[in-house]
Amino acid sequence: MYRTNTCGGLSLKDIGKKVTLVGWCDTIRDHGNLTFIDLRDRYGFTQIVLDHSKSKELSIIAKKLRKEFILQIIGIVKKRPLGTENKEMFNGEIEINVVESKIIAEAQPLPIDLTQRTNTNEDLLLKYRYLSLRKKEMQEKFFLRHNIVKVVRDFYNDNNFIEIETPILAKSTPEGARDYLVPSRVNPGKFYALPQSPQLFKQLLMIAGFDKYFQIAKCFRDEDLRADRQPEFTQIDVEMSFVNQEDIFLVHEKLIKKLWKEILNIDLKIPFQRMSYNEVMNKYGIDKPDLRFGLELIDLTELMSKDDFNVFNSIVEKKGLIKGINLKGKANLSRNEILKLEEFIKIYKAKGLATLKFVGGKFESNITKFFKEETLKKLIKIAKVEEGDILLIVADKEKIVFDSLGNLRNYLGKKFDLIDISKWCFVWVTDFPMFELDEEEQRPKALHHPFTSPKLEHLNILESDPYSVKSNAYDLVLNGFELGGGSIRIHNPELQKRIFNVLKISDKEASEKFGFFLEAFKYGAPPHGGLAFGLDRLVMLIAGSNDIRETIAFPKNKSASSPMDNSPSIVSKKQLDELNLISVLPEEAKKK
Ligand code: AMO
Ligand code: AMP
Repeated sequence: MYRTNTCGGLSLKDIGKKVTLVGWCDTIRDHGNLTFIDLRDRYGFTQIVLDHSKSKELSIIAKKLRKEFILQIIGIVKKRPLGTENKEMFNGEIEINVVESKIIAEAQPLPIDLTQRTNTNEDLLLKYRYLSLRKKEMQEKFFLRHNIVKVVRDFYNDNNFIEIETPILAKSTPEGARDYLVPSRVNPGKFYALPQSPQLFKQLLMIAGFDKYFQIAKCFRDEDLRADRQPEFTQIDVEMSFVNQEDIFLVHEKLIKKLWKEILNIDLKIPFQRMSYNEVMNKYGIDKPDLRFGLELIDLTELMSKDDFNVFNSIVEKKGLIKGINLKGKANLSRNEILKLEEFIKIYKAKGLATLKFVGGKFESNITKFFKEETLKKLIKIAKVEEGDILLIVADKEKIVFDSLGNLRNYLGKKFDLIDISKWCFVWVTDFPMFELDEEEQRPKALHHPFTSPKLEHLNILESDPYSVKSNAYDLVLNGFELGGGSIRIHNPELQKRIFNVLKISDKEASEKFGFFLEAFKYGAPPHGGLAFGLDRLVMLIAGSNDIRETIAFPKNKSASSPMDNSPSIVSKKQLDELNLISVLPEEAKKK
């Protein structure tokens, strides 16, 4: 038997017992004849004492021991001498007096410093990820993840959902990122695509009559990585038949409420707030608003485009917008600080930032001279301006105004500490546009995916005014993160055809890409809809982390590679030959 107990299990009630423990030597303190070791395993730490005077073997082992050796000991549980207890630890009042011990595995000095994460190079940490994962605070995230998944599985099970696995080797799916491709050996020249999501399969499961499906599903997307994005990630994926949007919201509000209760012991209020995409964009400039603070965007298009400031007038003539933020009480910002804000909005292509400080009962700005007294009075009212405030205004094309002010709002929220981090602000964002302009191709593309149902009341303008058509697509947003998204799907083949027409996808192309899928709708497809949450993001937010990689055991680095196993890597010529592939490297890559 390797052990009778774990390093987290013993306490005062075990005094006098003879136990066998095994674990890593976390800290070793040498006090002459006595060596104190914190023996560590997944369950905790136990202090063990090796008394060199007891036996020669013990003395030899004690001298040999180094940090991270795996040690097995047999010993007696004792109460620690008075004054040496650690009351903060569950087992801080006991220690084990070792009678026999054995080194199970030796360890070289670790290549990374487990105590000083910040000083160690990112790629080095990933290379030795299994060592970083020894740390308690790292492991805790995975127990959390495990518990979250368990609550999720139990919840769906209790609500009549069935978990079904869908293929990993399949045809390209329509989520809009680049696919990871897998060559087929037995079908020369042909490729599978790893799923960007189980979208098509879960819809087919509805046509098959499963009614309520879920899956903890691996998804793969070849896209630019960010703090909340990984090339392979996990979705809590759901589809339901004979439902409308509200039905889906109701079930998932219950799931989220249950999760917060069971994991964090927090009582969330449901139903969550609902806001249309238009409302969210107008107020926050961003479709995943952080509602933990104010600083809403104020529309000044009407008010500030009628006087003598030609810059604004001409922007509005070209259908642009003028919007502003009232940064309360910050009229004392220095010239330099304002310059920084200007630089910030320029990242988002804004051409300028007008600033109006309100001090001594009037505006201080180089643009007030262009405006009538009457206009400025209205501005005070509309923007709720008070002594000491500063207005930050951007006029530009709609997209630029939203992007620049939306991001500026988040930046200011953080910079001036306006965010109440104890809050959980959920909001369903609804009524997304069906299409957006594909700038390259100058034609509509699906904002969600082409199987999303448009609002039925907008069907009459589908072809004539596609950009005004709203869809039955929605996102669940939490504290400025998109936690999940989904939609009610099209189940009528005729309507699907019309959507493809708007998207300029020909019958031939549609049948090549999704023929098998479209055919299924000929045989009795139920109305259906669903959603998917990003599990990694969910764990990240519940854990209070801001890096998705902390919730993934073996994540990739910023260039989508793994410094640990060195993937992706070059493969042998034999493997390529078997797959009928030739690898043609650009000059740069050959040098590496
Ligand atoms: P969507 O593309 O919005 O919808 O994805 C759903 C959720 O998955 C998470 N997510 C990611 N997490 C980590 N890394 C990534 N690269 C990544 N990409 C997405 C997000 C996102 O909200 N099939 C549809 C769902 C549906 O319509 O039912 C879909 O995949 O949290
Ligand atoms: P100009 O006349 O171009 O020097 O601009 C006068 C002021 O208006 C400066 O403070 C600019 O930052 C500001 N400004 C210019 N263009 C814009 C714009 N598109 N949006 C907001 N402010 C602007």
